[in-house]
Amino acid sequence: MSEEAGIDKFIRSDLVTLGGYSARKSPDTLEGKVEVPVESIIKLDANENPYGCSPRVNQALATCPDLNIYPDSGQTQLRKLLQGYTGVSAENIVAGSGSGDLIDLILRLFVEPGDEVINCPPTFDMYRFSTELCHGKLVEVPRDENFAVKVNAVKAAISQKTKIIAITNPNNPTGTITPRQDILKLVDTGLPVLVDEAYYEFSGETVAPLVSQYNNLMVLRTLSKWAGLAGLRIGYGLFPPKIADYLLKIKLPYNVNMAALVAVQESLKDIDYLMDRVKAIIAERDRLFDELKKLKWLKPFPSQANFILCSVLNGKASELRQKLQDKGILVRYFDKPMLRNYIRISVGKPEHTDALIKTLQEIGRGINV
Ligand SMILES: Cc1ncc(COP(=O)(O)O)c(C=O)c1O
Repeated sequence: MSEEAGIDKFIRSDLVTLGGYSARKSPDTLEGKVEVPVESIIKLDANENPYGCSPRVNQALATCPDLNIYPDSGQTQLRKLLQGYTGVSAENIVAGSGSGDLIDLILRLFVEPGDEVINCPPTFDMYRFSTELCHGKLVEVPRDENFAVKVNAVKAAISQKTKIIAITNPNNPTGTITPRQDILKLVDTGLPVLVDEAYYEFSGETVAPLVSQYNNLMVLRTLSKWAGLAGLRIGYGLFPPKIADYLLKIKLPYNVNMAALVAVQESLKDIDYLMDRVKAIIAERDRLFDELKKLKWLKPFPSQANFILCSVLNGKASELRQKLQDKGILVRYFDKPMLRNYIRISVGKPEHTDALIKTLQEIGRGINV
């Protein structure tokens, strides 16, 4: 037995076989493997903001004071700032190192071994990952052919062991919205319902104002997308106060760093600038959709987020992704039960759309469509 295999017997046995979360690779790792310099790579694979963060954030971070001091673990100032942005009271708010941190924390709060988490694939894979880390059981209720949540099927899947119903809204990777009345039907079951609104700023649809009215409704948000802060890791959730208190109790101390706090402060001072860029991304999403539709070998799905899912009707999605990557354009591809042969394209700047469409046209000529 090799030295490396020998250590496995000390590792938690369930983790030895756990399917990890497949995070996007950094463009740096593609040095020498693509036909363009790494700096020219067009990154449309992780739903990041192509315009970056507010310039105010860069300026403030250059002179950020107090980096030798731990941030406030109770997040007092941060929660007040987020109260100002969301209109939801600070006592309902808990922030995390990205909203992914909060998904992990929420599942650890509710899920004991054998407990069930309902989600509706195809959807964001972190719910599976964090459920499995807690020894929970993921109960998957597939969406319909238009990727809508089947509310009655979700209700039928509820058991004595159900601890959380998770709905991503708009859904990643499909871009689909679940109407408020459907979410309320799930909230009315009395079970904890987690609505992930990572892309809220692109859809305008939210159930955040309802958090104060229900003791079982939780909403997750992030600054990774609309505020262009994915690299700084800052997200938050809106919770009934009792759940917020539990989360504050079990989170790691200082889980939001000082730079992220400064970045939130500055972003919220520059909200008009950032929202103008959100509007530009929404306009570009609509143009990208129209352009993709013209390529008869791709079928784009309407999206309320900052990405577009496409079914690849001719050729293999994995090969398409590779060909685009060779030309320096990164997209996400899927080949799993409900997403056989799909790619997901994040919305970039107009010049990114132009380069993508030109390359897709060239690839299309090669597959004779
Ligand atoms: C639906 C959804 N939720 C949560 C996240 C996590 O975002 P972050 O941890 O950057 O806040 C993502 C990231 O892509 C997402 O798509």
